[in-house]
Amino acid sequence: MDTTNLFRLDGRVALVTGGSRGIGKMIAAGFIAQGAKVYISSRKAAACEETAAQLGPNCIPLPQDVSSVAGCKALAEQFAAVEDGLDILVNNAGAAWGEPFENFPEIGWDKVMDLNVKSPFFLTQALYAPLKAAASRERPAKVINITSIDGQRLNPWETYSYHASKSALIYLTKRMAARLVQDSINVTSIAPGAFASEMNKAARDHGETIAKGIPAKRIGVDEDMAGTAIFLASRAGDYVVGDTITVDGGLVNAALGTSIDA
Ligand SMILES: NC(=O)c1ccc[n+]([C@@H]2O[C@H](COP(=O)([O-])OP(=O)(O)OC[C@H]3O[C@@H](n4cnc5c(N)ncnc54)[C@H](OP(=O)(O)O)[C@@H]3O)[C@@H](O)[C@H]2O)c1
Repeated sequence: MDTTNLFRLDGRVALVTGGSRGIGKMIAAGFIAQGAKVYISSRKAAACEETAAQLGPNCIPLPQDVSSVAGCKALAEQFAAVEDGLDILVNNAGAAWGEPFENFPEIGWDKVMDLNVKSPFFLTQALYAPLKAAASRERPAKVINITSIDGQRLNPWETYSYHASKSALIYLTKRMAARLVQDSINVTSIAPGAFASEMNKAARDHGETIAKGIPAKRIGVDEDMAGTAIFLASRAGDYVVGDTITVDGGLVNAALGTSIDA
């Protein structure tokens, strides 16, 4: 067995939604470092272009709002105009909404469920042909959904729809995996813990305080996220199907509960 190239992505084409910043950018940079050509997408064209310029010639901006079915189809059309096959799709774009129970509005459900649950489904559906074109039993294509530990355990905030959406996406990952494995398209998910980003301002602005509550005593950094995404995307992760990998420094699986002894 030669493990030298187990994690390489040379010759692979990837599309990362929400790739302009935060977790999506960490993943895009990791894929590029392993030799992939990476299309990054988000609503703001200027932000996509700026990030692509930073990440180099193998990063191509493809701006699009993917919160609607029409948006997902439009992105798939833009992609199909320039590429025949898609080896790796990362459904990363996501939104959160926090508001007290008494006032939590319907828009706080629609916005979050549309982007976090419906969009990964409909974007994968819209890109089914190029994913199938790239996939073979020897080298499966990959769909990686970015979920969250908030789909696995409760956080202290009133993020009702976010909790429900991420839990739903973890389960949807399994259901889509069961169907798409028939076409050699492996669907998996990564559930991040605390990573500094625009969405997770607490980790970004108060990382040291947040770190105290994490078993590993630090927040997640670029290598943690890129490493897991590269594993799933590459030959190394070819036999992982339908699973969610939790990347959180132990919050979900290695945190001690409160004592209930007298
Ligand atoms: N950071 C964490 O600690 C953490 C923890 C667990 C899970 N996550 C998950 O990780 C993913 C990325 O989060 P992040 O923390 O990196 O957030 P972020 O910094 O806010 O980045 C979100 C990205 O998604 C794009 N986006 C937002 N709405 C979009 C839409 N309608 N269509 C297309 N793109 C859209 C944004 O760009 P535009 O504004 O230009 O559209 C941006 O590129 C999310 O699914 C989030 O739930 C994050």
